[in-house]
Amino acid sequence: MTDQLKVLVTGAAGQIAYSLLYSIANGDVFGKNVSVSLILLDIEMMQEALGGVVLELQDCALPNLKKITATCNVQEAFTDIDYAVLVGAMPRRQGMERKDLLKANAKIFKEQGKALENYAKKSVKVLVVGNPANTNCLIAATCAPSISKENFTCLTRLDHNRAKAQIATRLEVATSAVRNVIIWGNHSSTQYPDVRHATVSVGDEAKPVPLVVKDDAWLNGDFITTVQKRGAAIIAARKLSSAMSAAKAICDHLRDWHFGTPKGEWTSMGIYSNGSNYGVPENLIYSMPVKIDENGYTIVDGLEIDDRSRVRMDATANELLEERNEAMKFLSQSD
Ligand code: NAD
Ligand code: LMR
Repeated sequence: MTDQLKVLVTGAAGQIAYSLLYSIANGDVFGKNVSVSLILLDIEMMQEALGGVVLELQDCALPNLKKITATCNVQEAFTDIDYAVLVGAMPRRQGMERKDLLKANAKIFKEQGKALENYAKKSVKVLVVGNPANTNCLIAATCAPSISKENFTCLTRLDHNRAKAQIATRLEVATSAVRNVIIWGNHSSTQYPDVRHATVSVGDEAKPVPLVVKDDAWLNGDFITTVQKRGAAIIAARKLSSAMSAAKAICDHLRDWHFGTPKGEWTSMGIYSNGSNYGVPENLIYSMPVKIDENGYTIVDGLEIDDRSRVRMDATANELLEERNEAMKFLSQSD
């Protein structure tokens, strides 16, 4: 494993980045034995504020942080990077769905996909956070054809963590006792948080979540809608979208991608579908359960899908197909 990493974070003057950068720079994500060069990209107008973030990072006096580069130059930002954490985008406001951001944000991911193609290492690992995250990720991957589609992922770990926390709260257990929830599909209100294969530790035994919760009406109703609408609930309360929990989820996603998932556990990631798994159409970024080791991620296959799950999984795939149609219009427009 390399002992030096070049990590790009876009939207670096924004609110998620403010909660994220310390953890990356402190070695909480890539380990204490790795020195990190951080590249912070934001638009020209935000350079003064970004300069303040740099001052604070310097003042943290972190031994792992080798170098900080703040820039609004895309070529400088993407050159030779190992990881691209693409956060920079407009967040939604109250009353909007995440897909309403497609028009505003597609241009960013088209430009950054091309920059990945032209300047990044071919082994670069890309995590798209900016919404609508799945379709922005597909745009970036489409614009970077020489980079393996497996290197493009989008963030659904926040939804995964939300699902896990809802079950743990309901059962009054630690979140670490709940394993193997799944988020299927889009990081949107059509996502399907699925606990049919999840377990909860009771003493030394891992028991199926549905058997321990013993309330199918809740599991098929309020549990699902709470997770689906959690982002909107946070916006309604904070008048700003989630940032602390989003940053934590980004760290979880990157750490698992870098080091692997814990033994016996899977996680949820938005990944490229080649059409071979769970009836998900080809050429979508769709969240699925994955296990990760030193060879990369593998989709957890062979899970039984019941009729109710099938309907939910197809509904979220259909929304992604619609978003893809919209996105392809932007891609065919000249700049
Ligand atoms: P924010 O407005 O606080 O920050 C966004 C930053 O991106 C700003 O500093 C802005 O100047 C910058 N930016 C805009 N265009 C850019 C470009 N072309 N290149 C580089 N930087 C650019 O927003 P935030 O709260 O940090 O959220 C960022 C995005 O993440 C939003 O789209 C939000 O909806 C999304 N989000 C996704 C998840 C998820 O789970 N996938 C969770 C939370 C938020
Ligand atoms: C979230 O899930 O909190 C983010 O995607 C922000 C949003 O728009 O919901």
